[in-house]
Amino acid sequence: GRSSPTAAPLTGRRVLVTSGPTHEPIDPVRYLANRSSGRQGHAIAAAAAAAGADVTLVSGPVQIPDPTGVRVIRVETARAMLAAVEETLPADIAVFTAAVGDWRPATVGAGKIKKDGAEPAPLVLVENPDILATVAARTSDRPTLVVGFAAETDDVLANAHRKIARKGCDLLVANDVSAAGGVMGGRDNTVHLVGRDGSVETWPTLDKDEVGRRLVTRFAALLPA
Ligand code: CTP
Ligand code: CA
Repeated sequence: GRSSPTAAPLTGRRVLVTSGPTHEPIDPVRYLANRSSGRQGHAIAAAAAAAGADVTLVSGPVQIPDPTGVRVIRVETARAMLAAVEETLPADIAVFTAAVGDWRPATVGAGKIKKDGAEPAPLVLVENPDILATVAARTSDRPTLVVGFAAETDDVLANAHRKIARKGCDLLVANDVSAAGGVMGGRDNTVHLVGRDGSVETWPTLDKDEVGRRLVTRFAALLPA
């Protein structure tokens, strides 16, 4: 049928979404990871595709199916995620939902590290690149709308206000991941939309698919016509 602006508000738009955890190898059999399921990022990608967008999802290792109608690039590490994101640009909207590992082991064992002696070797970590901040700071091909997420366990809004300034994104979706039942890995999410002007909009607790649809509607409204 005929597509109306309300049915497919993102027709002709390119959307990039990161989702899931990263795995940072220690040796061939071990890695550092986190509890992200990828549900919220995958839901945003699916909702953007349903809204008519050309969607690329850059996903860390997850146990959920690929969203329909979406190009999926699978990665393991933060550095591979950054490379895939940079290869995917330009985009109109970029949404950074992934729980990117903040640190990776400074060295990766070529073979399985053995117990050998009595004392375990200390695990030395180095910081990963900040994918969101890197994209938000671009002078060429910066997406029109750069959206960050913030997973917090304390002082959610105070941290969110600091984070949006530090990251340089246009909008920050903050959620309290200390909630009983667990947002990370769970089906529902309670989010606060924080704007660059300090505005805060708190949404009711909704399942992650519904949060994804409502966020996509909001992103579409924020794009210049
Ligand atoms: N992010 C990213 N690359 C990283 C770390 C975070 O792209 N190396 C993105 C996340 O996808 C999210 C936002 O930055 O959109 C905020 O992530 P968060 O972990 O809350 O913030 P950090 O800056 O890592 O700070 P901290 O974990 O110390 O709170
Ligand atoms: Ca982090």
